Amino acid sequence: MVDFTLRPATEADSSSIKDLIHRVGINPMDLDWRRFVLAVDGSGKMLGCGQLKPHGKDVIELASIAVEPSHQHQGIARVIIEYLVAQGPRPLYLTCRSRLGSFYEKWGFHAIESAEMPAYFRRLSRLVNAMAAFMNDKMLVMKLM
Ligand SMILES: CC(C)(COP(=O)(O)OP(=O)(O)OC[C@H]1O[C@@H](n2cnc3c(N)ncnc32)[C@H](O)[C@@H]1OP(=O)(O)O)[C@@H](O)C(=O)NCCC(=O)NCCS
Repeated sequence: MVDFTLRPATEADSSSIKDLIHRVGINPMDLDWRRFVLAVDGSGKMLGCGQLKPHGKDVIELASIAVEPSHQHQGIARVIIEYLVAQGPRPLYLTCRSRLGSFYEKWGFHAIESAEMPAYFRRLSRLVNAMAAFMNDKMLVMKLM
């Protein structure tokens, strides 16, 4: 198991964040380093990241949770998520592939229906799920009260 700590991102981390997000293949929009927390090893190497992303004033998303493929399944995402969930407001939202629903249920998130979604997530969900249906997949919108 690797030793790691959390720290806020700095401007110098911006390209490493974008690189990791691209490599793990999740939403590459709105990756402002100012909102990110990083997991780093003893030599300062970034192992994982996550952010609290605002959509307007009252809607905050737990987003960009990513861990280096070589360091997954060592509890790094769990620590990042616990930290951001403790910092974040309620309700707190996230989107994920359906297979990750049970992963986020551990922190108390539950999948919500279209009627309960803020407008941003309702639009995104319609758009993404229209395409995801062709791949036999679904994007969930989840909420933590
Ligand atoms: C999903 C991801 C962030 C998990 O990171 P990780 O550091 O490997 O996760 P952890 O080791 O902290 O796992 C935490 C818990 O979730 C479980 N878990 C991990 N990956 C999982 C997965 N893909 N599906 C379901 N459960 C999973 C673990 O078993 C663990 O449970 P436990 O603590 O009870 O043993 C990582 O696989 C990743 O970067 N994936 C690509 C990007 C992505 O899909 N991000 C999520 C966007 S919504």
